[in-house]
Amino acid sequence: MPGLDDVREDVERVRREFDSALSAANDGPGIESVRVEFLSRKGRIAQPFKVLGGLAPDDRGEAGRLLNELKDRAEGDVGKRIAASAAATRNARLEQERLDVTMPGPARPLGHLHPLTVVQREIEAIFLRMGFDVATGPEIETEYYNFEALNIPADHPARADWDTFYVSDTTLLRPHTSPVQIRVMESTPPPIRIICPGRCYRRDAQDATHSPVFHQIELLWVEEGLSLAHLKYVLELFTREFFGPGYEMRFSGDFFPFTEPSVQVHIKAPGAERWLEIMGAGMVDPAVLEGVGYDPERLSGFAFGLGLERMAMLKYGIDDIRAFLSNDLRFLRQF
Ligand code: FA5
Repeated sequence: MPGLDDVREDVERVRREFDSALSAANDGPGIESVRVEFLSRKGRIAQPFKVLGGLAPDDRGEAGRLLNELKDRAEGDVGKRIAASAAATRNARLEQERLDVTMPGPARPLGHLHPLTVVQREIEAIFLRMGFDVATGPEIETEYYNFEALNIPADHPARADWDTFYVSDTTLLRPHTSPVQIRVMESTPPPIRIICPGRCYRRDAQDATHSPVFHQIELLWVEEGLSLAHLKYVLELFTREFFGPGYEMRFSGDFFPFTEPSVQVHIKAPGAERWLEIMGAGMVDPAVLEGVGYDPERLSGFAFGLGLERMAMLKYGIDDIRAFLSNDLRFLRQF
């Protein structure tokens, strides 16, 4: 019949075997099989409990205490190892699936405004400060607004000055922004103070200073008492503000059927050898004022049509107008 000493021996042995089995288990499944071997209902720690009934009654308490102590300790140890193993697995996964939220994302190149848009907005801002409004008109224009209302009848030789793209018998892609003058005067009582930026089309051969598609900014000021001196003053103020110091401006006589007198304006950049024509201008012809129902005896006005590309070329030292339409990023990124 087994006695208390046998139980002590059993407990010691099972404890040693449990300890070495648990320390040899190095992963979750290993720990689980140690748990099953020692701690399941028929496991190696449950077995010695069976002898309790055969012990002398005085020894049963102490033997039960020893066996329970072994069982509690083993359960505690296995629990700790399971928790540690789960934590290690979780940490390994976290490490593997690590997401660095501070890492910069894939860079997406940012676009920016085209240099012509930048220059157009600068020019608009200068004239808005001087009290002008911005008007617009259609790019497909009628012959009437493009020519007749501007004092250019069908048989007038000046029509040949604008080499045009016709869309139908009576409509064309506008070759200048001057038709907007007529549209504004027809719909607005004087005084008028507007600028009109817009795209224009001409059958011009392409070269360093000409493009079949280009932009103009039209200006029109109609009021009582305006003279060529006002036009010159406005232009001087404008070019000084737009270009800054060192640029020279030159006026010379010209002819347009819708202005009298007419001038053209050239600009020379600092250190440049050549003058570049930037606009046609003049005092609005009385026949044009009369045509829109204004009284030319009381009112006078001046107008100009400015080439936007040419202004940008002068300001940034660009020597070929084709650069604006070439879509060459090496050019565009400089602005
Ligand atoms: C005109 O178009 C007149 N409508 C200007 C005007 C308005 C005169 C109001 C009087 C009163 P012109 O054809 O000269 O004028 O053109 C004016 C400016 O547009 C030129 O000085 C130039 O800067 C620009 N320009 C003309 N044709 C081209 C082109 N093919 N490519 C680039 N710029 C051009």
